[in-house]
Amino acid sequence: LPETEVIVVSNREPYIHNRINGETVLQIPASGLVAALEPVMRACGGTWIAHGSGSADRETVDANDRVAVPPAAPAYALRRVWLSEEEQNGYYYGFANEGLWPLCHISFVRPTFREGDWRTYENVNARFADAIAEESKGRDPIVLVQDYHFALLPRLLRKRLPRATILMFWHIPWPNAETFSICPWKEDIIDGLLGSDVLGFHTQFHCNNFMETVDRFIESRIDRERASVTLGGHETIVRPYPISIEWPPAALASQKPVAECRKAVRERFDIGQDAMLGVGVERFDYTKGVLDRLRGVDELLTRHSEWKNRFVFIQAAAPTRSKLETYQGLQEEALALAAEINEKHGGKPIRLVIRHHEPDEVFELFRASDVCVVSSLHDGMNLVAKEFVAARDDEQGVLILSHFAGASRELAEALIVNPYDPHGFGEAMNEALTMPRDEQRARMRLMRALVRERNVYRWAGQMLLDASQLRRRQRVLD
Ligand code: G6P
Repeated sequence: LPETEVIVVSNREPYIHNRINGETVLQIPASGLVAALEPVMRACGGTWIAHGSGSADRETVDANDRVAVPPAAPAYALRRVWLSEEEQNGYYYGFANEGLWPLCHISFVRPTFREGDWRTYENVNARFADAIAEESKGRDPIVLVQDYHFALLPRLLRKRLPRATILMFWHIPWPNAETFSICPWKEDIIDGLLGSDVLGFHTQFHCNNFMETVDRFIESRIDRERASVTLGGHETIVRPYPISIEWPPAALASQKPVAECRKAVRERFDIGQDAMLGVGVERFDYTKGVLDRLRGVDELLTRHSEWKNRFVFIQAAAPTRSKLETYQGLQEEALALAAEINEKHGGKPIRLVIRHHEPDEVFELFRASDVCVVSSLHDGMNLVAKEFVAARDDEQGVLILSHFAGASRELAEALIVNPYDPHGFGEAMNEALTMPRDEQRARMRLMRALVRERNVYRWAGQMLLDASQLRRRQRVLD
């Protein structure tokens, strides 16, 4: 699509400038969305519009609220939108993260919907539509709208920029129609999304759930063969685009050989050099099943006591959305459970590290470990699973992966578990720790080949290709 301006819009920005002890520190947030989209933007350029959330963000932008990023080697523009505390509370913490997030993840946290949050959500969506219209400077851009923070944006944009090509990607699961009907504004949300030309989910299952929801609650024409919905004369294609990571990942370039990573991490955590190591890396979110995997470790050490003092599990957990009580409660529960398990088995088998980790550190952990555990109770895709596979260029290491993460549809050579079943989980851990090297290699090779081929450029390329076909067709019909 030569000469077409690409605009990405998401709530989370790819680069956050924070002021820490009088200095400006650059941070890359823990977000699957950012990990996936950032390399794409570095490759194709354009503008990324997002909420400016860092304490030094305002000091680093120009008069138009823009900053060239990555700061070390600028490739595209980051345009920051400023949100007041009230806007963040209603739109981000409230409607998006207390309403839509638990609604779409089947994780048994009751969604909370408040009229005031909804109004703020509407207003913030409109503010981002303003920013996009401003950035598009009268042309017909391709706009990549990201995630559940902006369900209303495609429709709002369509009204303002009727000839823009709008791609909407929903990074989280879409539940079945009955569950979605809990949302008091379900029709508005569906209508908002159907302002797009292409609407993407990670899996066919989520596309089917969406179609079923449209069918039940909106008067429209559904074409199952084309996988599209037509509403008010406008057609939206609804397809699965499994998201992925860049290949090879940038963080791999600076890594030491695996043997050195193993040694360094074991020294840092004061773990015997011969001990087996399990690792988990996430935002501290209740959908990730962190408590369940700690119970899995407990089960392993209880049933297979030969692993006592020979196995350590490091859980790197980045604090997230900590203003919300559910998230504070989770941290407290996890700390208590880790202490209980450590007390029960002795030798401190669980190390819970609650802080932000940079990609380099995460990759070092992946390379130092024997097993990586992804135990999401529900997850759109889960890129940690793919990053672990990408980090292991030695073709060793075992991935334990929840059946409820979209990634389990692609990474079939992982040990697939049900995180709700501690017994099965413990057994899978034992199987992972005793898996012969040849088998590890055979499984890892297949998974690496898949992630290499289905990388994030392919994800973005496929969506853009579908969009460009629609765009050309539209131009002919004009
Ligand atoms: C998930 C969401 C992303 C979000 C990320 C981090 O991956 O799908 O939209 O950016 O979590 O969450 P946060 O609220 O910190 O941006």
